[in-house]
Amino acid sequence: MLQNKSFLVTGGAGFIGSTLSKMLCPQNKVVIIDNLSTGNLKNLYPYSEHSNIKVIIDDVRYCHTLEQYIEQSDYVLHFAATLGVELAVLQPVELFMNNILSSERVIQLAAKHDKRLFLSSSSEIYGKQEKACLTESDISCIPQPERTRWIYSLSKISDEYIAYHYKRNGLKVIIGRYFNFIGTNQSAAYGMVVPKFIGQALSDNPLSVYGNGSQSRCFCHVNEGCLAIIKLINNFDKIAVLPGISFNIGCEQSITIDALARLIIELTGSKSLISYIHYNDLPSGFDEIACRTPDLSYIKEHTGWQAVGTLKDSLKNIIDEIRNN
Ligand SMILES: NC(=O)c1ccc[n+]([C@@H]2O[C@H](COP(=O)([O-])OP(=O)(O)OC[C@H]3O[C@@H](n4cnc5c(N)ncnc54)[C@H](O)[C@@H]3O)[C@@H](O)[C@H]2O)c1
Repeated sequence: MLQNKSFLVTGGAGFIGSTLSKMLCPQNKVVIIDNLSTGNLKNLYPYSEHSNIKVIIDDVRYCHTLEQYIEQSDYVLHFAATLGVELAVLQPVELFMNNILSSERVIQLAAKHDKRLFLSSSSEIYGKQEKACLTESDISCIPQPERTRWIYSLSKISDEYIAYHYKRNGLKVIIGRYFNFIGTNQSAAYGMVVPKFIGQALSDNPLSVYGNGSQSRCFCHVNEGCLAIIKLINNFDKIAVLPGISFNIGCEQSITIDALARLIIELTGSKSLISYIHYNDLPSGFDEIACRTPDLSYIKEHTGWQAVGTLKDSLKNIIDEIRNN
């Protein structure tokens, strides 16, 4: 187990970074650098003031002390990024530049100081690849640039290209490709479907389903996803020497967006109806894929990890926590 180590967590006030920081901090030192662009210090509750956590509010791209903190850490965990379909459509260039400049700086400094780096990537790197079950070696199908939504995918696969280049030159790096993590602290502000639907259901407003809702996704509770990350870090030196250091992390159980909306209405006991929004009525630049399911054999082979919870249990847990806060 990880004990008495020091971690630098970029984006540690965000949804996933804060969850992982809270898991690590009782037994390890955690330094967080976050510019709070989409993150929130409340996400670190009840550990915000814990003596093992230090939070620096700054931008990874320009932070003068970033190198010093990387030098002092055993592991660098990079979560800072701009994400969400809405931001990809509304601020595509800002999103792209933030993501690749942040990642390039973190990767370059981790390599300079010979640190173990864990990099956050995304199922989005597969683009419009519509194979039933995606394995890590599947080809990325990122569409032509007319639809700006794909710029996020491009930024995450660019991060991976940069990381693999440094790996070939000696960097110890592992990459997690997350497939739709969900949890209580996930913001509804940037188009994430589960917090958006739960918010709409709890206020008895219509749940806005794009198209006819037949598109399907897989959702993984963030606590389970972070356990997968911890397992990868626990096996770092063994895994970082593999030729393929990118790992799908998620759940294989798939659900259509229409069924998800109905399930959330049922679990919240809401009076909400479903409002189907035609793709023509969404901002130009939006695009959709029919399905996206991970093949999880690779992470299972190398860490033994697999998600155990069901989507229904995860949703119940999130709804209960939101209601009790
Ligand atoms: N949530 C998911 O399901 C999901 C899926 C795939 C990949 N990811 C990846 O996981 C990582 C974390 O995502 P999240 O869901 O926690 O999102 P989030 O928006 O909650 O967290 C990102 C954090 O990074 C911070 N940040 C952004 N740019 C920064 C910068 N330049 N300097 C310092 N801080 C900066 C934000 O303030 C925020 O706290 C991201 O790299 C994202 O691309 C997330």
